[in-house]
Parts: sequence; structure tokens; C-alpha cells
Amino acid sequence: VAVSVSATASHPIPSTLWGQMFEDISSGDGGLYAELLQNRAFQQVTPNTTAALNAWHPVNGATLSVVADTVPVSSALPNSLQVVIPAGKTGPVGVGNEGYWGIKVTAGSTYTASFHYRFPTASAFKGSITVGLQTAIGHSLVSTPVPITAASTAWAQVNVTLRPTASASSTANNFTITLDGAAASGQTVHFALFSLFPPTFKNRPNGMRVDIATTLAEMGPSFFRLPGGNNLVSETVAQRWQWNATVGPLLSRPGRVGDWGYINTDGLGLMDYLNWCEDVGMEAIMAVWSGFALGGTSVAEASLGPYIQQAIDQINFVIGDPAKSSAAALRASLGHAAPFPLTYVEVGNEDFFASSTYTYRWHDFVTALQAEFPNIHFIATSNTFNPILSPNPLQYDVHVYQTPTWFAQNSFFYDGFERNATTYFEGEYAAISTNSSDIFGSPATGRLTFPTMQSSSGEAAFMTGLERNADIVFSASYAPLLNHVANSQWTPNLVSFDAGAVYPSTSYYVQKLFSLNRGDEYLPSTLPNPTGTLFWSVVRKTSTRQIIIKISNTVGTAAPVTFVLPFRTVASTGTAQVYLFPFTTVHDFDVWIPNRC
Ligand code: AHR
Repeated sequence: VAVSVSATASHPIPSTLWGQMFEDISSGDGGLYAELLQNRAFQQVTPNTTAALNAWHPVNGATLSVVADTVPVSSALPNSLQVVIPAGKTGPVGVGNEGYWGIKVTAGSTYTASFHYRFPTASAFKGSITVGLQTAIGHSLVSTPVPITAASTAWAQVNVTLRPTASASSTANNFTITLDGAAASGQTVHFALFSLFPPTFKNRPNGMRVDIATTLAEMGPSFFRLPGGNNLVSETVAQRWQWNATVGPLLSRPGRVGDWGYINTDGLGLMDYLNWCEDVGMEAIMAVWSGFALGGTSVAEASLGPYIQQAIDQINFVIGDPAKSSAAALRASLGHAAPFPLTYVEVGNEDFFASSTYTYRWHDFVTALQAEFPNIHFIATSNTFNPILSPNPLQYDVHVYQTPTWFAQNSFFYDGFERNATTYFEGEYAAISTNSSDIFGSPATGRLTFPTMQSSSGEAAFMTGLERNADIVFSASYAPLLNHVANSQWTPNLVSFDAGAVYPSTSYYVQKLFSLNRGDEYLPSTLPNPTGTLFWSVVRKTSTRQIIIKISNTVGTAAPVTFVLPFRTVASTGTAQVYLFPFTTVHDFDVWIPNRC
């Protein structure tokens, strides 16, 4: 194939084109959020049940139960872990936490541990609690004693640091809190809000897990879509994601039943998301809840007022003036007086599930929000132009989960879209199955567990089309972003991880290639065959005068292609980044450019 490239750009490429879509779908708690202890505060569990003790186990015969404390550590955290040291015990007796399917223990790292405790009955008991990390078979990796007293029934907080001198050979480790069985025989102790943090990305308190955060940052994303996805919406109105329940001290965050089958701690809250965006140099594309719950409830129009006000407060938390808005003042009190950048706000998620009510919900939310925030662009989440919405959306979020073949054959998806001032966020896309009749089915019927070269090259073909249509596509993000391989609600994902390591996928490398090789203007070229197997796009980075050609060959056979560049002077060499099966990394080669026109 001979491809002629035009010297004249057809359109600028928005700097927001490539970014990341995030929601907590086995990805936040136990993932990007660096907290190592699972079920650290017994949030949203039913006291006195076995399920309430998820991830906890007794050490040396202690009796454990989660109780609705008569004196809770805070009103947001009503439950405590009750530990009874039975009479007649010797040696360390207490409780262990298994983490999120393991805890990585690294020599030389500093682990910051904390917890609250109280004795429900005051006594003359004085002793110590040993805080430590142990292997699953009880070998101590590090420990430190902390003096305690039962003189008061009030809560006391313990903060310690643990510095193991040897790394554990696996991640099958526990965080343990023990008392001397003989000395504490018969004592009952209540514990609340445990925490254990390894070092975090850029050393943010309450921050992100370094290896996952670094992997994501290395993609060079320009935006981070948050907080969902279905996890924004939830099954019931009461369970929806609410920004105000996710900010401030951890003691005041009640957590919530997330939409993906587990409890969200909300330790990764709105302020934490915004700090993360700032640390990586990306802008939030933030969603507000739009009055619909996935269980089927749409809030009646007459009752929308409080939800719209909550959305106004949420946006003010991000960009408002602390002198005029209490939400913005709260942000300032948390250390960020200046507003965060915010250009796009999404109204709901996949509201095509309730399009008949989105008509009034979109209208009422956007009318009120636009009046408050005239500089923000609001993104609709129903099907494009169906139903007809008022005010007319100028941005839509489009989602597509399909087969690798669909992606390759739809690289011209946006070419036919009317140029009518409407622009598009390709907010979720991924090739997730090889079975077009059962896209969301199981691996047995073609669902992918991880991205493959076939799926990733199909996505790459589609992405060349996004660059060609970047006059109307302003942002695009693969979804979902992350999953813990031991507890996954959805496959495939861009980056997988477990307690010890991160596993970027083939699609991760495709996303990274596009993101790190951006142009700021699109150079038209001979069009690929829409039903063929070879796709390309050509962009120019004007600051460096570089021409960047991206090519996706979606099949396993070689295809010769020649690019004819229309410039009088062209460097005689360039760089080719080639991503080939069966290699697992990108290879850089110098290329010789034979033709100088
Ligand atoms: O990315 C997983 C889910 O797919 C998102 O939560 C939802 O928006 C979509 O249906």
C-alpha cells in the first residue's frame, strides 16, 4: 500500500485526547488506593455476623466479633471489632488481617500503621499491644510493642511505623495485633479504624500504591474520568456515590455498598482523586449522579432539588471560591485553596438505561448547573440524539464493548458523524470478547480474560480513527482500567495486579504508544480500506516538527506499506516503536527513510 500524506493539517488534535477511565471495580480499594488492610473499619457490615469479619481471623484462640459499639469511635463508623482474650491462654493472642488477598512486605520500606482501641470496662490492667507483620504461618517479619492501659473506657489512637529488615518471600502475610495471653487473660478490647500504609506515590498521605500509580502515570494520561461508571450510579438511590461522604478525616467516611459486589471504604475520596490528578498532571472528567439508580428508580422531577444541589456542591468543591461556597471552603481547609482544573462534567453514566426519565433529569440538572457554572461543558450519557434532549447536549459520552473484529472494522465509526458542533467522549471502549453473539458472556463463550494481541490491534485500528476524527472526538479512554486478579468483577482490564505486582496488558502498551506519541494536528493521508486489515493515522507535533505515523496491522500476516511524505527536507532516520507478538515490550528501532521528496 502506498500512502500519500498531506502537508496541510485538517484539524488540531485536542490535548485531552488520551486519558483514563476509573471507577472502583476491584481497582480502588485494594488497588490504586494504597491501604493494605481489607475491612479496616467494619463499614456497612452487619454486626455479629461471620461476613462482618471478612479478612480478619483470630490469632491463638482470641474470640472475635464485630459489634455495634455503644460508644462508637465516630458517628460514621458505628461498628468495632471486639477481641476477647480467653482465660488460660499464653503467648501472643489477638487478631490478624489478611489484606487484599495478600500483603507485600518489603525490606527497608516504612509501613505506617494505626488503630483506635478502648476497653469497654475500665480496670487496673496495664500491658502492651504488639503490632506486627507475620507470614501466614506465623513467622514474624517485623513487630513493635505499644504500651496500653485499661484505666479509661474512652477511645485512644495508636500510630506506629514498622520497618521490616527482610522482605517476605511471598505476599501471604498478615497484619497482627496481639496481647500477651497470660497478662491479658479475660480482657475484652474494642478496636476501630485500623490502617496500614506502605510508602505512597509522591508520598501523599492516604495516597496511591506506588507500582500501580507509576504504571498509570507512565501512560502520560491527560485526563482521569471519575468516579464511574456504574459505581457512581449504584443500585439504589441511597447507595449512590456521594462526594461529601468521601472527604475529610477517615473517621467521618461511612463507606458505602458499591455497585460491584463489595463495600467501598471511600478512603479514596474526591479530594484524594483530585490530588492524584494533580500529581500526575491530568485533569478530572468528573461525573455527578443524575437521579437514576440501576435498580430501576428514577427520582421524580419534583424531588430532584436536593440531588441537583449536591451536584452543585460537588462541582464547587472542585472549582468553587472558598469565600462563596462552603464546599469550596472545605476544599481549602483540606489544603487546596486554589481550584482544581475542571472543564468537563458528565451528567450520570449510561443514562440510556433510563432514557425516558433522562429527558427531565438532563434538563433540570443541566439548566441548574449551567447557570452556576457557565464555563463547564456538560456531557450527556444517553444514546446520541436519542432521545432528543433539551438543552441540546454539545458533548456525549459514547461507550462500546465489542469484538476485536468490530473495532478493526469500525475505525471509520466517527467519519460519518455530522459536524454540527457536537463533540464526543469515547469514555469506555474495549474489545472484550471474540463472540459477537455473546459480548458480555463468559470465557467459555469467548469473553477475554486479558487483552490479546488481536483485541489490542483492533483497538489500535479504532484509535487511528479517533485521531482522524479528533475534530469531534475530544477524549477517549479504555475501560475498565484496573483489576485485582484475585477478585475480579470484569475482564479484560487494561492493567491487572495482585498484592505483589502489576501486569500491564497488550492494550496498555497500545494506549501508552498513542498517548506518548501525540501530535497537535492531524495530517490527512490516503484513507485505509475500512474493511481491510491495515489502518493508520498521521499526526504532526508542531513543537518538534515531528511526523508521527501510527499503523495497526490487525492480522498475523505481514503487509508492506510505504508512506510518501510531502516535504522537501526530511531527516534520513527516524524511530519505529514496534509492538509485535510474542514480545511483551515495545522495541525501538532506528529506521532509514529512503525518499526525500
Ligand atoms: O467498565 C465497566 C462498566 O461498563 C461501567 O461501569 C459501565 O459504565 C459500563 O457498562
